[in-house]
Amino acid sequence: MTRAMRLALALVLGLAGLTFGAALLVQDQMRAWFEKDVNLRARLALQGARGELAQSWRGDRGRLETLLSDLTLDERILGACACDGSGATVARTRDYPAELDCAALVARVASEGPDPRWDHWARIEDLPEREVHLAALPLADAAGELGWVFLAHDLTFMARRDARTRLFLFAAFGILALGASLFTLLAARLSWRDWSEELRGFLRGGEQRKMFRPILADVRDLVDRLIEHEGRAWTAQRLKETLRHSLSDEKVVVLANREPYVHQKRPSGEVEVMHPASGLVTAIEPVLRACGGTWVAHGSGTADRETADRHGRLKVPPGEEAYTLRRVWLSPAEEQGYYYGFANEGLWPLCHIAHTRPLFRGEDWEQYRAVNERFVRAALEEVDSEDPILFVQDYHFALAPALIRRALPRATVITFWHIPWPNAELFGICPYRDELLEGLLGSSILGFHTQFHCNNFLDAVDRFLEARIDRERSAVVQDGRATLVHPYPISVEWPMRQLAGVPAPAQARQQVHAELGLEPGTMLGVGVDRLDYTKGIEERLLAVERLFERHPQWLGRFTFVQLAAPSRTTIERYRALNESVEALAARIDQRFARPGWHPVILRRAHHEPPEVFRFLRAADLLYVSSLHDGMNLVAKEFVAAREDERGVLLLSQFTGAARELTEALVVNPYNLDEAADALATALSMPPGEQSARMRSMRSYLAEFNVYGWAGHMLIDAARLRRREQLFARLGDVESVQGLVPRQPGKAVLR
Ligand code: F6P
Repeated sequence: MTRAMRLALALVLGLAGLTFGAALLVQDQMRAWFEKDVNLRARLALQGARGELAQSWRGDRGRLETLLSDLTLDERILGACACDGSGATVARTRDYPAELDCAALVARVASEGPDPRWDHWARIEDLPEREVHLAALPLADAAGELGWVFLAHDLTFMARRDARTRLFLFAAFGILALGASLFTLLAARLSWRDWSEELRGFLRGGEQRKMFRPILADVRDLVDRLIEHEGRAWTAQRLKETLRHSLSDEKVVVLANREPYVHQKRPSGEVEVMHPASGLVTAIEPVLRACGGTWVAHGSGTADRETADRHGRLKVPPGEEAYTLRRVWLSPAEEQGYYYGFANEGLWPLCHIAHTRPLFRGEDWEQYRAVNERFVRAALEEVDSEDPILFVQDYHFALAPALIRRALPRATVITFWHIPWPNAELFGICPYRDELLEGLLGSSILGFHTQFHCNNFLDAVDRFLEARIDRERSAVVQDGRATLVHPYPISVEWPMRQLAGVPAPAQARQQVHAELGLEPGTMLGVGVDRLDYTKGIEERLLAVERLFERHPQWLGRFTFVQLAAPSRTTIERYRALNESVEALAARIDQRFARPGWHPVILRRAHHEPPEVFRFLRAADLLYVSSLHDGMNLVAKEFVAAREDERGVLLLSQFTGAARELTEALVVNPYNLDEAADALATALSMPPGEQSARMRSMRSYLAEFNVYGWAGHMLIDAARLRRREQLFARLGDVESVQGLVPRQPGKAVLR
């Protein structure tokens, strides 16, 4: 029973009670009026005839009977009777009730004595069958008392009137009660409709919402801050709780091309587990460890098939089994077209301003589309509800959000674009720009590292699609459905689990120095990257060269080591980069090397995380010189690794990280003089200043870690889901268009 129905029922019952009480009161009052009326009429009749009655009493009995009959002409008077003082009947009308005989009446009148009520001529008697009102008039003449005249009124008419009055009363009050209830229901319904209309208006962003927007925004801000801060840091536990409380422990399915664990077969036949050099893996892995769920990825290792079940599934991390890795197998042609071709020769250079021309081939695009569909199909096999949470990662899957949305309209699709988004003019050169934008707009939330990249995306939508841009909410609205486009700067795990087995900084320094053959006092600069042209590795080496030119006091006292993980080596541009970096390192070395000292050491190989962290702990400085980078997590890993609060971070101004790690020495990597001077500054920075800068960056990362990154997206997603559920309850078809399945059923990829 709804609240309004309960209210109406209570109202009806209340009114019925009131009606009953009122009816009793009214009936009593009416009865009193009727009796008074009868009394009055009887008195008038008897008093009018008093003289004649007395006259005929002693002589003319016939005349007396006639007079009595005249008194009873009114149909409501049953009869009249004259009784003498001894109780004998003197005269009576024909219809006078035999039960009311003179003896009894006179005895009763005599026994009751002078009763003031008799003066009012009032007396009511009950006959077995009917109610009778008896009026008694004492008669006397000059010779003395004569006796009594009794007039019997039939009161059954009063009972009939009573019944009719009751009926009218109940009918009137019933109608009133019904009317009041209907009115209440109607008023409740109308006010609910008004309220829900207004609420919908608010949520849709209509006029009403504009009116309240400042207050609404303040309140929301406050609530968000209270929820998000609560004086607690973001941890794996807190992320897990957020998922449980805000999203009912919904399973999370991640769609990301790069897998976190690659099984490789060694020439010996032994299988080893490799951890790829990927910022994406660094960020997503701790999130899945905390939340559980499934990671759908390309199975790229040579021993991947044999280490997974027949569906490509296996539990990871090895030995811990915190979540499921679902591998998708790609043919060489698919991998070529989708990964190397469209993703890395097309989108990668398109999104990075690194002066490498993007290549868009029709056949690559076809593979990209087909592989996006294959991955989405695999992801849909992993979900277990009609409204799952899918976490789509990066430029490999721009089409996936819309494909998921079509198959599961109520899904919450959180997409994170890990690389920059170019300005609209640049993006516009892509022949498939509209399809890419439409694909991404299948997301519920689309995240970038910075507001700047969000703005670029919104501008591109504005320029190339028919869609409404809601700048206030930073959202794109299409067909009544919104995609929030918000910045979520990615971060690292805090504290970093991977640091557990890594030697402490002093020990790491010792080990690294020994391995590289450095003199104990030699200062060490480090670079850690995939060998990618966006990372500015050439510019970095050139800056080191410039350092020795501008600050020769560092010759023989400073060595720069570059850990470079080979990447995408089938692409010509990457092969060329390999060669040029190699040649550049060799040239600088040739130019400045001395016996027992090398200015630059290039280590072109894959390095497992403990090795990378050992170098990060051994370094006096880390130089991140990306020409363009969404975030760059190596910079944050460096800060996380330095529990000793030592070491200097040099950071390219073209990284997302430079907006957060403002205590770094921020440089323009193209400006070699500036970069060389910054290197010199870092090398001579006093330990106190190093500590102060490092401490500040560490406290920032402790708060803004990867659990916070995922947590904020999940909180936003939960808010969206609540809103969508509310719309669905309100039956706002327009607002939930595309969010509620017309016919719930199995997910199908159309
Ligand atoms: O920068 C975005 C990113 O996904 C990184 O996380 C990762 O390092 C790289 O691009 C992708 O590398 P790969 O092609 O080796 O997966």
